[in-house]
Amino acid sequence: MTSLLEPGTTTDRAVRLRAEHRARWGADPALVGRAPGRVNLIGEHTDYNGGLVLPVALPHSTLVSLSPRDDGRVRVASLQAEGVFEAQLDDVGPGTVDGWAAYAAGVLWALDEQGVTVPGVDLLVDSTVPLGAGLSSSAALECAVAVAVTALVGGDLSPAGRRRLAAACVRAESEVAGAPTGGMDQAVSLLAEPGAALLLDFDTADGSVGDLRHVELGLERAGLALLVTDTRVSHALVDGGYGDRRAECGRAAEALGVDSLRRADLAGVEALPDPLLRRRARHVVGEVQRVSGVVEAVTAGDWGTVGRAFVASHASMRDDFEISCAELDLAVATAVEAGALGARMTGGGFGGSSVALVPADRVEAVVAAVQRAFADAGHRAPLHLMATPSAAADLV
Ligand code: GLA
Repeated sequence: MTSLLEPGTTTDRAVRLRAEHRARWGADPALVGRAPGRVNLIGEHTDYNGGLVLPVALPHSTLVSLSPRDDGRVRVASLQAEGVFEAQLDDVGPGTVDGWAAYAAGVLWALDEQGVTVPGVDLLVDSTVPLGAGLSSSAALECAVAVAVTALVGGDLSPAGRRRLAAACVRAESEVAGAPTGGMDQAVSLLAEPGAALLLDFDTADGSVGDLRHVELGLERAGLALLVTDTRVSHALVDGGYGDRRAECGRAAEALGVDSLRRADLAGVEALPDPLLRRRARHVVGEVQRVSGVVEAVTAGDWGTVGRAFVASHASMRDDFEISCAELDLAVATAVEAGALGARMTGGGFGGSSVALVPADRVEAVVAAVQRAFADAGHRAPLHLMATPSAAADLV
């Protein structure tokens, strides 16, 4: 069988990271933070529309080792990337940091903006979250830094404190890294529980996380598994497509005379004169309803309905929201043909990953079928991982 991307054992990875930190920065790390990537089960492009989402935390995570400095400098390096980012903490902010280090340094800036006294730090990063695959490697990095710094300064890691950290991470991503994302990825990385999906409601005045509920999945009991396929078609939220969709949703809400598309109804949407805005809004309104339907079905153990909602969600993203691509469509269709109860693209779109709900004894067959279909179509070989619903960010 094609091998699956393994999450690695956290304790083993931390031992190695501590040694690398010592070798590189000349000091033992004071602590190591860990934060998971995520896969969203359903509710795509709904978070910034005041809607519902239902992500799970992956077992694949980012570790960040940290040692404080007394000269206000920041140094960031990664076991997965060349080079070192280095700056004076006071100089870090919107427009001053390029590349992946912006996600780490940006969090220091955002915490400072929240009134936290952040010292200079040396950081070293190690991640098993596939990069640029729509599985929130950036949020995992932000949240690992946020947890590590918060623990260092004796800050609040209660659920309320974690909500504040999520808000800081969103500011880091949108204002320093320049990716105008919603709040789903950071919230699930900081608030998930093992074995459960996290139902998040973004119907709040400022677009932050409102109500949340852990939805026990019981996948193993049901003989099911979540299989993620990384199409390896590059996906970058700092590219234009994501921002375009956000702007179109804003225009659709304005045309409907509502604050957010959460307040729109289908009849109003179907009467929109602009066909593009109609399609965009139809996706968002339908998708929020599908999230509620999936939560109900999961609770009732009705996995057939969950699978059908995945398939409907994918069609909506392909045809109305127009954020899929040939590779994602192929991964989804092939998974379903090979025995998945349902499958859909997940995350921001324009490439990245799909998620399939698969009977545990069909996983191998689905992986093999997708590999074959990609080879036949002349696509790059995709990667696969098992999305066992895992725990939120914490210290290692
Ligand atoms: C990205 C963003 C999220 C969300 C999804 C789409 O992952 O970071 O906030 O908007 O895309 O659902």
